[in-house]
Amino acid sequence: QTKQQNEYEIFTLTTWLFKLEKQGTINNELAVVISSIALACKQIASLVNRAGISNLTGVAGAQNVQGEDQKKLDVVSNEVFKNCLSTSGRTGILASEEEDFPVAVDIADAYSGNYIVCFDPLDGSSNIDAGISVGSIWGVYEPSEECPMDAHDDANKLMEQCVVNVCQPGKDLAAAGYCLYSSSTIMVLSVGTGVFGFTLDPMIGEFVLTHKDVKIPEVGKIYSFNEGNNDLWDESVQEYIKSLKSPEKWDGKPYSSRYIGSLVGDFHRTLLYGGIYGYPGDKKNKNGKLRLLYECAPMSYLAEQAGGLGSTGTTRVLDVVPEAVHQRVPLFVGSKKEVEYLESFTKKS
Ligand code: AHG
Ligand code: MN
Ligand code: MN
Ligand code: MN
Repeated sequence: QTKQQNEYEIFTLTTWLFKLEKQGTINNELAVVISSIALACKQIASLVNRAGISNLTGVAGAQNVQGEDQKKLDVVSNEVFKNCLSTSGRTGILASEEEDFPVAVDIADAYSGNYIVCFDPLDGSSNIDAGISVGSIWGVYEPSEECPMDAHDDANKLMEQCVVNVCQPGKDLAAAGYCLYSSSTIMVLSVGTGVFGFTLDPMIGEFVLTHKDVKIPEVGKIYSFNEGNNDLWDESVQEYIKSLKSPEKWDGKPYSSRYIGSLVGDFHRTLLYGGIYGYPGDKKNKNGKLRLLYECAPMSYLAEQAGGLGSTGTTRVLDVVPEAVHQRVPLFVGSKKEVEYLESFTKKS
């Protein structure tokens, strides 16, 4: 007979991880890695909420490997993630949007472990100065057997081993998630047993379970694309978008367009309300803008865990084996039927 839940019992990310570890679903090491990510996100939530007060808006004055002007909070969030992950003592390699190369957590000292974490420390950072939702995105891999890391190897060999260990397909993810910094701070994640959401309760500084075993609606009448790029898209994508707008096709009710320019915000709405988010390739960038390792793969992993789908337009995102740390792929992700409808245009071309 299950113990009656008393009114003071709360289920937090920490107790959820303890339960999964007790069940043997995850091991202690992964539980510690995810806890250290949660600590990083709590710190970033506070920094984001006070950006204007602590002079953390605006640009840092440097460019990242993507050729983007780094925002101050891009740089600070990256440092927060690296600090929390390396001091967790369970990580071996860190790959970040804001790092040119993967960072080998100092293998020699006691702090290093085995897990590999790919992360976008601050997603949607162009929105920071306008106070619009931003987020952090992360994915965790086990080290690959084929390429054991050897601390005694020279720096070049070590870097090669890091890149091989980081470049794993999304289907091998041990865990993935994002934290949305918006009207609420919500950590949404999966360790392969479905998708769970935890809302930060600032009163106790804990992420409290608020979204249990999220399933994305089968269909959804919202599409989330930056239509400013329409004329640069392939014809197949232009045809698809045109079809969504045709009243005749949808009993007089065409799709609605929603786009805030933060993948985490646009994805979170798609996950809960259904529909499709897309960042297609275009004439200027045939692989689009979003990065596979720390944006497309984690979001596609979550979508599939919630019963949805993530596609490049021609292949399942989780099957793509990365060839480079900052590799980009086109992304169409959301309700399975919506993504399959998109593919009926893009797979034809
Ligand atoms: P980031 O801020 O981490 O560089 O990511 C920005 C991404 C993504 O968050 C968003 O969906 C997309 O860029 C918006 O791109 P456009 O402004 O080109 O639409
Ligand atoms: Mn960026
Ligand atoms: Mn991003
Ligand atoms: Mn970013």
